[in-house]
Amino acid sequence: MTASAATSDIPRHVAIIMDGNGRWARKRGQPRIFGHRAGAESLRAVLRACRDHGVTYLTVYAFSTENWVRPQDEVRGLMTLLRTFLKKDEHELHENQVRLRAIGRIDDLPQSARAELTRVMEATRHYDKGHLILALSYGGRTEITDAVRAIARNVQAGDLEPDQIDEALIARHLYLPDVPDPDLMIRTSGEQRLSNFLLWELSYAELYFTDTLWPDFREAHFAEALTDYSRRCRRFGAPS
Ligand code: IPE
Ligand code: IPE
Ligand code: MG
Repeated sequence: MTASAATSDIPRHVAIIMDGNGRWARKRGQPRIFGHRAGAESLRAVLRACRDHGVTYLTVYAFSTENWVRPQDEVRGLMTLLRTFLKKDEHELHENQVRLRAIGRIDDLPQSARAELTRVMEATRHYDKGHLILALSYGGRTEITDAVRAIARNVQAGDLEPDQIDEALIARHLYLPDVPDPDLMIRTSGEQRLSNFLLWELSYAELYFTDTLWPDFREAHFAEALTDYSRRCRRFGAPS
């Protein structure tokens, strides 16, 4: 992803840490997967809200490299949910000409989820009205580590001098070099940390934290976050 100087009141790229599904379910005496299912509804709502507000890129943290430590049945449930989401919502991606993409160690996903993901990504690859980017088995440090390895190989092969390594070159080796950096990062559920999300790309993003749990986060909450963003003054190091 590349640095973007957003001049508009509407962020071009919003990144979301969709957190709080487990707590939402627990409050209702339900298993965690119940919360994840409700969370998928929020994702649908926010994707529509992006279209309505003119947000072009939406990146959502769906599963981190750290989330593999969760109980097997929860991980399995999440992978099934991913497949269901892709099947159920593919038509909406077509209707709105939204391209689906993914970042993360996609090869770590179970074959059935990976196959469905690859199929929908392929089927929507020619769209560019909107972009939905799913972070799956994603870790910011892993992304940077993979980039460093690729660059080191180029140096070793004699194709690159160490002095030629600059920020732009590093950014070109990240997962989606053509996607602008997020302008706004939203995290739900009251936690105020990055949890290894887009460490490089979020350098200059505006951060928005809300106590609302992800399954409760719908169009109105998203609109509120956009209003908050429109009041921010992004200086990128320039004087106020
Ligand atoms: C976010 O909700 C979804 C994933 C991490 C997959 P959580 O499952 O982390 O919900 P809490 O934080 O336990 O409430
Ligand atoms: C971050 O949430 C990952 C996703 C939302 C997919 P977590 O719930 O896993 O983060 P921590 O463990 O609270 O930092
Ligand atoms: Mg959580």
